[in-house]
Amino acid sequence: MDEQTITIGGELVVGRIGLGAMRLTGEALWGPYADHEGAVDFLRAAVEAGVTLIDTADVYGPHSNEHLIHDALQPYPDGLVVASKGGFVRGSRDFSSVQAIGARSYLQQAARLSARRLGVERIDLYYLHSGHATDASFEDQIETLVGLRDDGVIGHIGLSNISVEQFSIACGITEIAAVTAHFNVADRTNEPLLRAAEAAGSVFVPWQPISLIPPRDERTDVNGPDHLRAVLEPIAEAHGASASQVSLAWLLQHSPAMLPIPGTTSIEHLRQNLAAQNFRLTPEEATAITELAS
Ligand SMILES: NC(=O)c1ccc[n+]([C@@H]2O[C@H](COP(=O)([O-])OP(=O)(O)OC[C@H]3O[C@@H](n4cnc5c(N)ncnc54)[C@H](OP(=O)(O)O)[C@@H]3O)[C@@H](O)[C@H]2O)c1
Repeated sequence: MDEQTITIGGELVVGRIGLGAMRLTGEALWGPYADHEGAVDFLRAAVEAGVTLIDTADVYGPHSNEHLIHDALQPYPDGLVVASKGGFVRGSRDFSSVQAIGARSYLQQAARLSARRLGVERIDLYYLHSGHATDASFEDQIETLVGLRDDGVIGHIGLSNISVEQFSIACGITEIAAVTAHFNVADRTNEPLLRAAEAAGSVFVPWQPISLIPPRDERTDVNGPDHLRAVLEPIAEAHGASASQVSLAWLLQHSPAMLPIPGTTSIEHLRQNLAAQNFRLTPEEATAITELAS
């Protein structure tokens, strides 16, 4: 891997900053995005601008996010990886209705229907969305993903929102290409998971990478509290950049396994996010941000 690319599962070479598509949904991530044509134009422009990895999930909408990506980008250009996830159902607009399901036939159906909605034979990277399901053992869920990979429904296995212990169990069963978890300048709770992923050769995909508040349902906040801004903003000014770009640059320098997926619906913000991989923080700047860990 060079500094501008990262390789997933020894095969998928992508840029070091991807795009989280979750926000291209309705209010509260429920239903379709209001401006369908605008979202189609945005996704096409994002790929033109150099995005090579898009993160989605069947539960975004539910389903509407995968349909949108299909409408905008299928047939997919060579080199574009669309990663999806399965294992959550959402019974209503109310977030408390989200539930993790791990039953074999459910996960098998979820992956096959995601492939159908995306219009692909094989989903290059497919995550188990949550390690929290209790209706099947974690080991059984990993075996289900292995079966889907053997059947060619998915290319590589990823895990989302798991513990270090679960990661270790999964790695004992099969190769885990990627791990995704909440991680950003403000919240390093998942640092041990990052280090475990690094050691195993898995890519680490921080979600809400530029948010400066703890994870809360669909909420995110790139402005954050004063004590974080007091450190980030002077560094941003020194680089003629934004605090969000500094957050992304810090993530990339923090680990060679890092592949952030900032979410945006703005092509201007997307270009800024991609540009964050082109500047380096000084060691003093990086240390000042590292020391912000909560
Ligand atoms: N695995 C999981 O359980 C899980 C959970 C949550 C999220 N995710 C994934 O992670 C992705 C990212 O998370 P997220 O979208 O919630 O949070 P995020 O990337 O931390 O932040 C998104 C917010 O930042 C703004 N933004 C983006 N770029 C900006 C920039 N350059 N300058 C200023 N503001 C900027 C966006 O507004 P604009 O639209 O105006 O740019 C949006 O309000 C999601 O899209 C999803 O794919 C995964």
